[in-house]
Amino acid sequence: MGNTSFLLPLMVFVAVLCNFVVALSAESPNITTDQLALLALKAHVTHDPQNILATNWSTTTSVCNWIGVTCRSDHQRVVTLNLSDMGLIGTIPPHLGNLSFLTKLNIPNNNFQGSLPMELANLSSLQYINFDNNSFSGEIPSWFDSFTQLQSLSLYGNNFFGVIPSSLGSLSNLKELFLYDNDLKGHIPVAIGNLSNLKYLRLGQNQLSGRIPTSLFKCKELEVLFLYDTALEGSVPEEIENLTRLSDLALNGNDLTGRIPTSLFKCKELQVLILSSNALEGSVPEEIGNLTRLSYLSLYRNNLTGEIPSAIGSLTSIIRLDLSNNSLTGEIPSAVGNLSSIQHIDFRINNLAGIISSFFSISSNTCISIRHPLKENSFGIATSSILDEHPIIDII
Ligand SMILES: *[C@@H]1O[C@H](CO)[C@@H](O)[C@H](O)[C@H]1NC(C)=O
Ligand SMILES: *[C@@H]1O[C@H](CO)[C@@H](O)[C@H](O)[C@H]1NC(C)=O
Ligand SMILES: *[C@@H]1O[C@H](CO)[C@@H](O)[C@H](O)[C@H]1NC(C)=O
Ligand SMILES: *[C@@H]1O[C@H](CO)[C@@H](O)[C@H](O)[C@H]1NC(C)=O
Ligand SMILES: *[C@@H]1O[C@H](CO)[C@@H](O)[C@H](O)[C@H]1NC(C)=O
Ligand SMILES: *[C@@H]1O[C@H](CO)[C@@H](O)[C@H](O)[C@H]1NC(C)=O
Ligand SMILES: *[C@@H]1O[C@H](CO)[C@@H](O)[C@H](O)[C@H]1NC(C)=O
Ligand SMILES: *[C@@H]1O[C@H](CO)[C@@H](O)[C@H](O)[C@H]1NC(C)=O
Ligand SMILES: *[C@@H]1O[C@H](CO)[C@@H](O)[C@H](O)[C@H]1NC(C)=O
Ligand SMILES: *[C@@H]1O[C@H](CO)[C@@H](O)[C@H](O)[C@H]1NC(C)=O
Ligand SMILES: *[C@@H]1O[C@H](CO)[C@@H](O)[C@H](O)[C@H]1NC(C)=O
Ligand SMILES: *[C@@H]1O[C@H](CO)[C@@H](O)[C@H](O)[C@H]1NC(C)=O
Repeated sequence: MGNTSFLLPLMVFVAVLCNFVVALSAESPNITTDQLALLALKAHVTHDPQNILATNWSTTTSVCNWIGVTCRSDHQRVVTLNLSDMGLIGTIPPHLGNLSFLTKLNIPNNNFQGSLPMELANLSSLQYINFDNNSFSGEIPSWFDSFTQLQSLSLYGNNFFGVIPSSLGSLSNLKELFLYDNDLKGHIPVAIGNLSNLKYLRLGQNQLSGRIPTSLFKCKELEVLFLYDTALEGSVPEEIENLTRLSDLALNGNDLTGRIPTSLFKCKELQVLILSSNALEGSVPEEIGNLTRLSYLSLYRNNLTGEIPSAIGSLTSIIRLDLSNNSLTGEIPSAVGNLSSIQHIDFRINNLAGIISSFFSISSNTCISIRHPLKENSFGIATSSILDEHPIIDII
């Protein structure tokens, strides 16, 4: 057998050379391609209240001088498009998919409509997409997984419907995912747990149902998890303790049941904890006192029972504390008087009783809502002096 091993590299070389020649002879995209794409966008804008595009996007100057457009200096191709807050009405033309070097597409606070053309899938360099507060509709395209460089995807305040595509789970660079305030339904995809760099996740104000997938607790970088005002059910998973960086958690306005897991109180970075308007039961765990960074705690409108733990006095950073509309019993712990940063306390609609002299050490700027309607709690005689001490009383 003769030595033919040199043939393979040679064939590869010839193949690569042929492709190169073909690529050169075809019309290679340049700044003119970008100009045509942007002019197509301009033509798809049906209303431009400040006449910005009409006056500024003129072919007499380079697109790199157009408002909202930035080019990279070395190769003169468009890299960012920022048309935020211009009140534009229109649709997105497929031509936008020709802006092959685009890294940032920022068009929030306009009135763009319709669904997204799949030609956008060619924008493989995109790192940042913001379509917030427009009127886009249709499904969130599964081809969003083409944006392998994507770090931030924000689509809130639109009319996207259908399910959250599982393909988003392959966007391994994603740090922010904001899909709230749309018409999304179905379950939170298990594949979201693949987003190991995710820091901010906001999916609420939709019709998402089912349980909170435990895979979510693989996203160890999560700092903000907002899943409020949707239709989630089941319990708050024990695995929440894995989110050691969590600072803001809002799961309010769902159908969550079961007890508040004590493991939650291992999330020591928590500053905001909102679990209100669910069907949580059991007591407020003693371990709540471990959350010394907490500034906002809201557990109202659940079915919590038992006494308010005196450990609540350890929440030295707390500003707003709302335990109203539960079935809490016993006396308000005197430790509440130690909450030196508090500005708003709401204990209404419980079965609390007893001494409230503890409030006297609280600043006179604090709103206290414990008293009205009187029949909902049964406080002692101190109430009238509380009213004198605290001119701002929140009686809703
Ligand atoms: C862009 O390429 C087209 C052909 O594809 C060419 O006609 C045009 O002159 C080029 N424009 C620039 C600015 O290089
Ligand atoms: C468009 O706006 C940019 C930035 O404000 C400005 O530099 C440029 O001169 C304007 N071009 C035209 C044609 O008005
Ligand atoms: C887009 O432009 C607006 C105003 O021109 C600016 O405030 C905003 O920071 C820009 N956003 C991005 C992502 O560049
Ligand atoms: C850009 O995109 C449009 C529509 O997707 C296409 O018709 C056009 O040929 C593309 N190429 C250039 C160079 O504009
Ligand atoms: C949403 O966009 C509209 C303009 O289309 C603007 O008037 C409104 O203030 C924006 N809302 C928010 C919350 O930014
Ligand atoms: C993406 O671009 C390639 C060539 O650059 C083209 O063949 C393909 O049709 C484009 N895909 C979409 C979805 O526009
Ligand atoms: C998520 O990761 C699992 C394995 O960890 C993999 O099987 C699955 O395909 C991934 N899903 C996506 C959408 O990337
Ligand atoms: C939570 O963390 C523990 C220990 O690091 C790990 O064994 C477990 O698999 C994690 N659970 C999830 C859902 O990520
Ligand atoms: C609360 O803190 C105490 C003392 O630091 C610790 O022993 C306990 O395990 C903590 N509990 C939780 C649920 O983190
Ligand atoms: C208290 O909560 C119940 C449900 O748990 C609700 O039906 C009722 O309207 C709430 N009352 C007030 C005053 O918010
Ligand atoms: C609250 O719990 C009590 C006792 O377990 C139960 O009778 C009641 O139906 C529950 N209320 C709600 C609104 O879940
Ligand atoms: C309130 O604070 C004072 C002084 O810091 C302390 O002596 C007292 O034990 C605290 N009371 C409660 C109930 O935590």
